[in-house]
Amino acid sequence: MGSSWISVLLVLASAATFFSLATPIDTIDQAASISGNQTLVSSGGVFQLGFFSPGDGADGDRKYLGIWYAKVPEPTIVWVANRQSPVLNSPGVLKLSPDGRLVIVDSRNATVWSSAEPTTSITTLASARLFDDGNFVLSSDGSRSPGSVAWQSFDYPTDTLLPGMKLGVDNKAGITRNITSWSSPTDPSPGPYTFKLVTGGLPQFFLFRGPTTRIYTSGPWNGEMLTGVPYLKSQDFGFTVVSSPDETYYTYSIRNASLLSRFMVDGTSGQLKRFVWSSGAWSNFWYYPSEPCDGYAKCGAFGYCDSSLSQLCSCLPGFVPRSPEQWSLRDTSGGCIDGGGGGGDGFWVVNQMKLPDATNATVYAGMTLEQCRVVCLNNCSCRAYAAANVHGAVSSGCVIWGVDLLDMRQYSISVQDVYIRLAQSDIDALKAAEGKTTVIAIVCTMSAVLLVAAICCYFCRNKLRRKLQGKMAPSAASGSNGLPTSRVKKQRPDVNWCADKDVDLPLIDLQDILVATENFAEENKLGEGGFGPVYLGKLECGQKVAVKRMSQRSVQGVEEFTNEVKLIAKLQHRNLVRLLGCCIDDDERLLMYEYMDNQSLDTFIFDEGKRRLLGWQKRFEIILGIARGLLYLHEDSRFRIIHRDMKASNVLLDKAMIPKISDFGIARMFGGDQTTAYTLKVIGTYGYMSPEYAMDGLFSMKSDVYSLGVIVLEIVTGKKNRGFYDPELDLNLLGYAYMLWKEGRSVELVDDVMDGGFNNSEVLRCIQVALLCVDVQPRNRPTMSSVFMMLSSENATVPVPNEPGVNNGKNTSDTESSSYGFTTNSETITEEDTTR
Ligand SMILES: *[C@@H]1O[C@H](CO)[C@@H](O)[C@H](O)[C@H]1NC(C)=O
Ligand SMILES: *[C@@H]1O[C@H](CO)[C@@H](O)[C@H](O)[C@H]1NC(C)=O
Ligand SMILES: *[C@@H]1O[C@H](CO)[C@@H](O)[C@H](O)[C@H]1NC(C)=O
Ligand SMILES: *[C@@H]1O[C@H](CO)[C@@H](O)[C@H](O)[C@H]1NC(C)=O
Ligand SMILES: *[C@@H]1O[C@H](CO)[C@@H](O)[C@H](O)[C@H]1NC(C)=O
Ligand SMILES: *[C@@H]1O[C@H](CO)[C@@H](O)[C@H](O)[C@H]1NC(C)=O
Repeated sequence: MGSSWISVLLVLASAATFFSLATPIDTIDQAASISGNQTLVSSGGVFQLGFFSPGDGADGDRKYLGIWYAKVPEPTIVWVANRQSPVLNSPGVLKLSPDGRLVIVDSRNATVWSSAEPTTSITTLASARLFDDGNFVLSSDGSRSPGSVAWQSFDYPTDTLLPGMKLGVDNKAGITRNITSWSSPTDPSPGPYTFKLVTGGLPQFFLFRGPTTRIYTSGPWNGEMLTGVPYLKSQDFGFTVVSSPDETYYTYSIRNASLLSRFMVDGTSGQLKRFVWSSGAWSNFWYYPSEPCDGYAKCGAFGYCDSSLSQLCSCLPGFVPRSPEQWSLRDTSGGCIDGGGGGGDGFWVVNQMKLPDATNATVYAGMTLEQCRVVCLNNCSCRAYAAANVHGAVSSGCVIWGVDLLDMRQYSISVQDVYIRLAQSDIDALKAAEGKTTVIAIVCTMSAVLLVAAICCYFCRNKLRRKLQGKMAPSAASGSNGLPTSRVKKQRPDVNWCADKDVDLPLIDLQDILVATENFAEENKLGEGGFGPVYLGKLECGQKVAVKRMSQRSVQGVEEFTNEVKLIAKLQHRNLVRLLGCCIDDDERLLMYEYMDNQSLDTFIFDEGKRRLLGWQKRFEIILGIARGLLYLHEDSRFRIIHRDMKASNVLLDKAMIPKISDFGIARMFGGDQTTAYTLKVIGTYGYMSPEYAMDGLFSMKSDVYSLGVIVLEIVTGKKNRGFYDPELDLNLLGYAYMLWKEGRSVELVDDVMDGGFNNSEVLRCIQVALLCVDVQPRNRPTMSSVFMMLSSENATVPVPNEPGVNNGKNTSDTESSSYGFTTNSETITEEDTTR
């Protein structure tokens, strides 16, 4: 949505509203109709109803009756009456028929659409009115009381769910409400994607492609959350799922009615998207599916998905791949089978997982968990059970799966206990293994590192000699070193990494990098990082890449390097820079990343000229993007990944100004050469701790949260939080922000190039959240999931921040260690915040 195809019409329509009708009307009755370019406008001026023509008219003039936001300049249609039957080549007329239906007729009085039969009897008093919530209500007596409503547009959603609309079934009224995408941006007829409730078992919503293909599910509702989105708790986010014999539905609300919010199925991307209107644009807060593990039942029966692992799919504890051969080839569709043969006599509890698809599960209302356990043990088809409703102190009812467990997924936060039935022998084995996990994890990781290192070496070793001087022209290199060309070719991994972007992590031939960067030509140098130079490279296929050439003086070894690379390669997120490949060639270590057209955030926000290009809306989107990326690093990964070097220059911007976090892990990888005290400090403090140790969550992620707070303030103010050169100034940005916030003058902080062009409440929320992030006490800082929640939800309650960190005469060298004023940096990390 959001092209400008109907803008002309809407402008004319609005003009008509103002000029032809002295005051806009919001109602039609038996005596009135609207036709041509007349419109209805709700009394508060929020929504407008009238005819619109999508498209450029090339395929004939098609008119649809729709509802859109009256004040949003970007045409945003939220409802269409006659989506399947446009008025063709004639102006349309909407009127109330004598039998009490809304009808659309064309110029020959032929009916092209009519509303469903009214549910109450209609008199001459009947009228249809457009309300400020976007509902177009036909009522027998002009009121909106339940007994009078004869028909309402909210019962017939198209592709958009507005606050207050219901998605689900109403058994009494016999209505099913779903949202279905448009066929194309210029064709409102129903497209392939539908989001709807599937009844049976626990309430659960699915995104379908076509009539039967499930591509995403919200996960079952457990009374508190949709278990596929455990970060969004119903009470914080103003949504709920109501489940009763009469009706089952999802609905959401907006506390501040003046905010515009919508939730829609986007037919172009096939995603669910939630938007909020702010500062003159639609801001996309979330969208699903957004990563491979969001795909429905990706790992087959009894498998689960974990986006932090390079092999996304694993079998549930006690289960083994049905076909180990296929599984090892990453075809996980066959799923897993019970290693113990099924029919177990005990249970293994998992609790950081999305609940399995529960549409075919059986719900026993009123049964306790203990009773459920007995029922499950006595029924040979039972595979698992769980509480049906975790809301409130006493859980009531339980759910039993007598079917394959599908669509499970690992999270880093607790969702709820699911009891998986296993043989006692399996359970004993799992318990024994659990004790050894730590040891095994370390051993496994180490051997994996060595393996990768070995492979890397195998592919790159023979290029070493040619490279040593680093001066040879690439074309000369293959000819002059005496190696037959065929041999060089043969050693290349059989991977076309231009075309095939989804291979695990290509090992790239040094030769190819030399060609791409023109032998590390000076003019291709993009910059100098803390660990060595970065070069622009052009692949044969034309794609631009950034090549990081690690310093040869790096104190880190091959193991650390491969370890980090393995880690980075596993991470894939829209807000992280994508690693395309690596090469190790003796002391040459190269990483190839996607190239970012707009360089780093600091080159925008701290640049006198370029910062003018960044309006509030963009800045806000960048803030949300960075928060999403960090949330992914911290919480969507079973390993908790700490960036440790979050700063504006480590946030890159792509063509569309989407922020991408870069250099995650690099701080731990490359020490020494740039000799910033910071790098030395971190290496000095943690140099002997392996990254896995850090990833397992023994360090605090709150240091990243702190940095994010600083970045947010920098983005809002356009000023650098200059650290150690001037401690006074360092405290100034944070302290100053706090002072202004306290006095209710936060708006004065805002970068003056934005000149009032920003949304006050968003700016205030950002500043307040940033102040929470820079709390001196790690434990007072919010987690990334609450940071993200507070930033993205206009409804969230943001706690009152404390005065930001004043370093109480602690070791001042800590302050010097960072250009970001980590006045408590060292404490933060070594203090080990153990919120796990
Ligand atoms: C809108 O209505 C006015 C007055 O009836 C008419 O002059 C004008 O042509 C109409 N515009 C369109 C786009 O139909
Ligand atoms: C359409 O119906 C209206 C009212 O019933 C009538 O006045 C008008 O002449 C009709 N137009 C045509 C083209 O039949
Ligand atoms: C969506 O709901 C409408 C109205 O109840 C129904 O006609 C349509 O078949 C539903 N679509 C899907 C895909 O279930
Ligand atoms: C609601 O939002 C509007 C516009 O963003 C803002 O001006 C108003 O102060 C808000 N009201 C409340 C009660 O938060
Ligand atoms: C649920 O049962 C129906 C009918 O037996 C079957 O078609 C469907 O695949 C089952 N779905 C799941 C998730 O088990
Ligand atoms: C066993 O469990 C399945 C699935 O929950 C259920 O359909 C079946 O009726 C149960 N059988 C008995 C004997 O309770």
